[in-house]
Amino acid sequence: MSSAHIYPIYDQLLDQEAKEKLLNQKAKVFWFTGLSGSGKSTIAKHAEKQLHKMGFLVKVLDGDNVRDRLNKGLGFSVEDRTENIRRIAEVSRLFAETGVICINCFVSPTREIRTMAKEIIGDSFEEIFIGTSLEECENRDTKGLYKKARAGEIKDFTGISSPFEAPESPDYTVETEGKSVEESASLFVEYALTKIK
Ligand code: ADX
Repeated sequence: MSSAHIYPIYDQLLDQEAKEKLLNQKAKVFWFTGLSGSGKSTIAKHAEKQLHKMGFLVKVLDGDNVRDRLNKGLGFSVEDRTENIRRIAEVSRLFAETGVICINCFVSPTREIRTMAKEIIGDSFEEIFIGTSLEECENRDTKGLYKKARAGEIKDFTGISSPFEAPESPDYTVETEGKSVEESASLFVEYALTKIK
């Protein structure tokens, strides 16, 4: 029998809902979009810890665990960013089918690229805008990349020499300026709890 026959039967036997029931949670893919240095990964990791304590199984995907391995070799051209996001969306769809909550931290700079992610992931997709201004990201410059981008040492740098389109109607926005990481994470967690219980 071909796999085309096997998979529908398999899904009927044990679908996403059965797995969510086992984990006592609803799977969602919280897609954090925002400039480099806006705080996406830091907030996500604190939120993951808070949710873990409450008994939720969460996977954080970000450049650190994806661009180094699965997406090794992809750069920052429009084509490469699109392929980066496409693969991540496909992987998080698999996580969601397994009942796992994902927090994905990727610049994902254009509406088009985020629409693609949403189309791949489907109903589980939640767009979360980490709304830190370019000025603040550049002031923080945690990785020193803005300085290099301004000096022309990095091409196609988001916010400097490549566009960032903020979401028009995100499902939730975290304004980070003037807040501690814990505060920002708690605000997100409060929102997430309305979707994953
Ligand atoms: S995305 O545009 O394809 O979604 P992704 O989130 O994976 O980007 O990677 C962004 C991270 O890569 C930034 O936080 C920064 O550390 C690093 N980076 C290196 N070069 C660039 C660049 N040209 N533009 C944006 N980020 C870059």
